[in-house]
Amino acid sequence: MTVYRHIALNELASCIDVPEEVEDDFDLAGIIGLCGSFLTLRGRTISLVHQSTKDFLLREAVDEVFPNGEDMVHYSIFSKSLRALARTLQCDLYSLVSPGYPIDQVKQLDPDPLAAIRYASIYWANHLNRCSPSKNAIEDLQDSGSVGIFFHDNYLHWLEALSLSRSLSEGVDSIRRLERLLETTAENSLLLSRVRDARRFVLYHTIAIENHPLQVYSSGLIFSPARSLTRMQFTTQEPAWIIQKPTIRERWSACLQTLEGHSDSVCSVIFSHDSKLISSASEDTTVKIWNASNGHCLHTFQGHSDPVNSVTFSHDSKLLASASNDETVKVWDASSGHCLQTLEGHSELVFSVTFSYDSKLLASASDDATVKVWETSSGHCLQTLKGHSSGVSSLTFSYDSKLLASASDDATVKVWETSSGNCLRTLKGHSSRVNSVTFSNASELLASASNDATIKLWDTSSSEHCLQTLESHSSQVNSVTFSYDSKLLASASEDATIKLWDPSGHCLQTLEGHSSRVISVTFSFNSKFLASASSDKTIKLWDTSGHCLQTLKGHSSWVSSVTLSYDSKLLASASYDETVKVWDASTGRCFQTIDIGTVASVKSFDITNSYLETDRGTICLSLFSERGPTNTDPEMPRFKGYNISSNGRYISFNSNILLWLPPEYRPISSAGSLSTICLGCASGQVLFFTFDSPRLLNLFATH
Ligand SMILES: *[C@@H]1O[C@H](CO)[C@@H](O)[C@H](O)[C@H]1NC(C)=O
Ligand SMILES: *[C@@H]1O[C@H](CO)[C@@H](O)[C@H](O)[C@H]1NC(C)=O
Repeated sequence: MTVYRHIALNELASCIDVPEEVEDDFDLAGIIGLCGSFLTLRGRTISLVHQSTKDFLLREAVDEVFPNGEDMVHYSIFSKSLRALARTLQCDLYSLVSPGYPIDQVKQLDPDPLAAIRYASIYWANHLNRCSPSKNAIEDLQDSGSVGIFFHDNYLHWLEALSLSRSLSEGVDSIRRLERLLETTAENSLLLSRVRDARRFVLYHTIAIENHPLQVYSSGLIFSPARSLTRMQFTTQEPAWIIQKPTIRERWSACLQTLEGHSDSVCSVIFSHDSKLISSASEDTTVKIWNASNGHCLHTFQGHSDPVNSVTFSHDSKLLASASNDETVKVWDASSGHCLQTLEGHSELVFSVTFSYDSKLLASASDDATVKVWETSSGHCLQTLKGHSSGVSSLTFSYDSKLLASASDDATVKVWETSSGNCLRTLKGHSSRVNSVTFSNASELLASASNDATIKLWDTSSSEHCLQTLESHSSQVNSVTFSYDSKLLASASEDATIKLWDPSGHCLQTLEGHSSRVISVTFSFNSKFLASASSDKTIKLWDTSGHCLQTLKGHSSWVSSVTLSYDSKLLASASYDETVKVWDASTGRCFQTIDIGTVASVKSFDITNSYLETDRGTICLSLFSERGPTNTDPEMPRFKGYNISSNGRYISFNSNILLWLPPEYRPISSAGSLSTICLGCASGQVLFFTFDSPRLLNLFATH
């Protein structure tokens, strides 16, 4: 009556007090048999004879079934589950050995060490939630209580087990549930910090762990921030085959998760109003719907014949509309993916589409210089708004749908009355194409983003003058949006960053992480999250609450090229930040930064490490002359053992996956030698790895 799904005999034994005289499943089955009028066994799984049994017992016999209250039963299941997990879980439960062992080749073991704890591993936190805050559970939630000990000792083993049972997303749910519970019962506790860190850890590494259970210890530990509590707790479990680890940031960045799946630039992204779903539109001609809580792609809608520029949810999240270069707008059923309407009428590319607040109207903006207003249910075009002298790139309804604002290539923003189609105002001030426009909630403010690299704030009611110009992006601004409470403004730029502003125009935060232009940005309804779409083909989810700026140690722009010296002691990197850096390849320390303008490629060191050949000529590395010639053999063959996969997602050794690379650390350029690999990243970072080749050879030779 208290379990969340049918439960197998051995699972039951891990979460109840089994009487001493019961020695095995066979005895337990006997007891179930005695309860024949309520319980049945199908194979080894116990279930109620009928759902009404439960209702009957709850109604008629609740005091007999739960003499100490139902909470106590939940508490007991929770605490026994946690104990069973602690007893069973360990590193590499299935003896897979190889760090990159793919989940689809994992076979269930017989006997399966996971069999008895599968239920416990997924549902322990649900049971805790149901009995909290009972007196007992409060002790368990102290920093040194059972939950804290579990996270301290077993968290990574638990993630490995969840991955082996293909249940990682249920695990993520439990962590989130636990976090909410602690926010109300144990605010400011160490345990809450631990659990928060645990959630960041699993979100960041979901793809790696889901596909390769043992990557929880390699990619998971190596690429988590140095001060992540999870990483610090488990340093002893870091792989022994890595001698030198790259330096990773100190703390988690504001980026929660990166959604990968589109095969081309992502042009538009939007949250559903309950913030549970995210939809994205891409140049790959598809629209995708994602689960916002775990980043899984739920649907891919195909139907447009050209790139999709814009996507929007209706306010009840039942409909989705998309605008495409194929000159149409499509309306989709968001749950089935059926295309309900194809709106034809524009004579050029359609850049933008938006629903009115009540979803009865749809408006679309096109390169044909018009805005069209459509009736959603019939697909009839009600109005064509003419006035812009050039293509219309973006449009938005006011909260009450009475006004419509449009941004155009003609460098103006126009405000229209929806009912009459009259143009009320033309806002002039940008010096170049306006890419995006947004109303504040009460419609008193309008913000516009332009190719002139600025955002302008306008007072919509009283004047046609710009109140303020926000200048901080270094390149064109592609998208701007107010949060729903209008307390924040977010902008996305060609400079690969997103900026958060307060409505008075102060830049609060710069979010870095995309490796290419950011095309679209949107808030979740509660303004806690931000999603961004980029031509790096990904969508990133951000936490908007108080993170400090990241300072990157390294280049300030893409690392276009890296090369190692013959003796592998030095590494040179070239970046679009117009510098070349020379690094100590064994410590990752930067020796020298040379400003010489844009260098596309650093080619090679000379044998004495005194000169560096680049496509802009030879640089003399005078700093190193006192080091004297280094003793190397220029003919030393490049070691073939280590490789970066062609999609840049992992480092392999003799064709075994060794280390999964999180999206932000996938290389633009790389160099390798005997046992050192260097990756140059879009963020400007240069990562150094040195592997213990004999140990790895040994590891793979025996398996
Ligand atoms: C999204 O994922 C969460 C967490 O795993 C899950 O509880 C929820 O049911 C999922 N939603 C959909 C629509 O699949
Ligand atoms: C937006 O404005 C409307 C009408 O003024 C108000 O009812 C609503 O609560 C506001 N929404 C938010 C998120 O502030």
